[in-house]
Amino acid sequence: MSTVRLLLSYLLFKEVLALSGNFWHITDQHWDPTYNPNNNPELVCASSGKRPAANAGIFGDYACDSPWDLINSSVYAMKDILPDPDFIVWTGDDTPHVPNEDLGEVAVLNIIRNLTHIITQVFPDTKVYSALGNHDYHPKSQLPAAQNYIYDQIAEIWQHWLDPESQGTFKKGGYYTEKLLNRTGFRMLVLNTNLYYDQNKVTQDMDDPAGQFSWADKVLTEATNNKEKVYIIGHVPPGFFEKKRSKPWFTPKFNKLYLDLIQKHHSVILGQFFGHHHTDSFRMFYNSEGSPISAIFLSPGVTPWKTTLPGVKDGANNPGIRVFEYDTQTLVVKDVVTYYLNLTRANAARGRWEKEYRLTESFRVPDASPASMHQALERIASDSCYLQKYYEFNSVSYDLTECNNDCRVDHVCAAREADFEKYERCLQGAAAAIYGGLLPVLFVALSLVSANW
Ligand SMILES: *[C@@H]1O[C@H](CO)[C@@H](O)[C@H](O)[C@H]1NC(C)=O
Ligand SMILES: *[C@@H]1O[C@H](CO)[C@@H](O)[C@H](O)[C@H]1NC(C)=O
Ligand SMILES: *[C@@H]1O[C@H](CO)[C@@H](O)[C@H](O)[C@H]1NC(C)=O
Ligand SMILES: *[C@@H]1O[C@H](CO)[C@@H](O)[C@H](O)[C@H]1NC(C)=O
Ligand SMILES: [Zn+2]
Ligand SMILES: [Zn+2]
Repeated sequence: MSTVRLLLSYLLFKEVLALSGNFWHITDQHWDPTYNPNNNPELVCASSGKRPAANAGIFGDYACDSPWDLINSSVYAMKDILPDPDFIVWTGDDTPHVPNEDLGEVAVLNIIRNLTHIITQVFPDTKVYSALGNHDYHPKSQLPAAQNYIYDQIAEIWQHWLDPESQGTFKKGGYYTEKLLNRTGFRMLVLNTNLYYDQNKVTQDMDDPAGQFSWADKVLTEATNNKEKVYIIGHVPPGFFEKKRSKPWFTPKFNKLYLDLIQKHHSVILGQFFGHHHTDSFRMFYNSEGSPISAIFLSPGVTPWKTTLPGVKDGANNPGIRVFEYDTQTLVVKDVVTYYLNLTRANAARGRWEKEYRLTESFRVPDASPASMHQALERIASDSCYLQKYYEFNSVSYDLTECNNDCRVDHVCAAREADFEKYERCLQGAAAAIYGGLLPVLFVALSLVSANW
């Protein structure tokens, strides 16, 4: 082959490669510095709140937040699996689930510093887009709509990841936007949705806390004018928790405003990436004709901590981290690969992080576009094999029990409807469908009875 042809095929190869990119999404590490597996079970970690940590090992216990060994192990696993991602998305919740009195501003900031440090150390040349979680403030969930000491400090801690302009908006409201990897035509929008969390007492009565909605509307309008493609990341998502019926996170007003924002600008939004659930799920957005227009990917957490939310049964998970594969020209999400640590096995036998599943393989869809996510949801809703698969992935292969019909309704309605009223209608529709399904049975039974007369 001539040098020219070699060069040409090399360039072609490079071009094809360049179309496909990937990035890490990590979330909800919840480091518990008190974790000590050698204590008696009730005292292994502060985050268990006296629940016994019966199987405490080096990498943690399902009753506890993450020990440092788990955090360290997850970051080095990232380096092992995909050492050179295009960027990293980190959606917050760094501190343990303990009473406010056990933390304080200094402790919260130190924990954020330590996690920032290890990510920076292991990925020194990688751009990180970092969103605040509701646990990244003291007192927890009370993130203010104005400049304050903690936003200022975190802007300093993250200054190597933030453009100068981002520092400005971050200090004012905990949010920022930048060109994605400094490339013209591509944008990252990092939101502080903790301002919309119903646990946040300081923002509840405001119309537009920290002016974030009007700012995001302006950014997305400009993105449309400039023909940009946008990713949105944040911590607390809109819509409902799939593991507890009728449990939303946002206040009704803020949920509606968020949905309106997505409806208005969906054509430039190519993906939304959130955490907070600790579980693995997704949320659909449809237009008025019922066509899928956008999806939120809810990535699993690193902490295995069993939630104490009343009404959730056995709500722990295995530690998870995930890679998104995307088209670098269109920003369409092509695939989602989730890696996990089987905590039980890791503690017993030094188990390793392994691939849990690849979205396109497990749900037989061509990519992770809104249309494909809709297709996956339809499979989950109508086929018990897909439902069961989805359900096991939901807890990162921790809860392998059967997902019954109530469970199916909770998960499917949460994924399908992020709007408060439509979600309720989905639940009612499911109930009606059960009665509707029973009616013919009743009819047949009655006619059999009458035949016997
Ligand atoms: C972190 O994990 C790496 C890779 O497993 C290991 O070499 C290193 O000793 C760990 N560091 C700490 C402080 O545990
Ligand atoms: C956390 O950061 C502090 C201060 O930089 C340091 O002394 C400590 O060793 C760090 N802890 C871990 C587990 O990295
Ligand atoms: C981003 O691109 C602009 C213009 O191309 C350049 O001046 C600037 O230094 C770049 N910023 C970074 C952080 O690379
Ligand atoms: C995790 O490991 C435990 C202990 O080895 C095993 O019983 C369990 O089946 C494993 N879970 C999965 C999903 O592989
Ligand atoms: Zn969390
Ligand atoms: Zn959270």
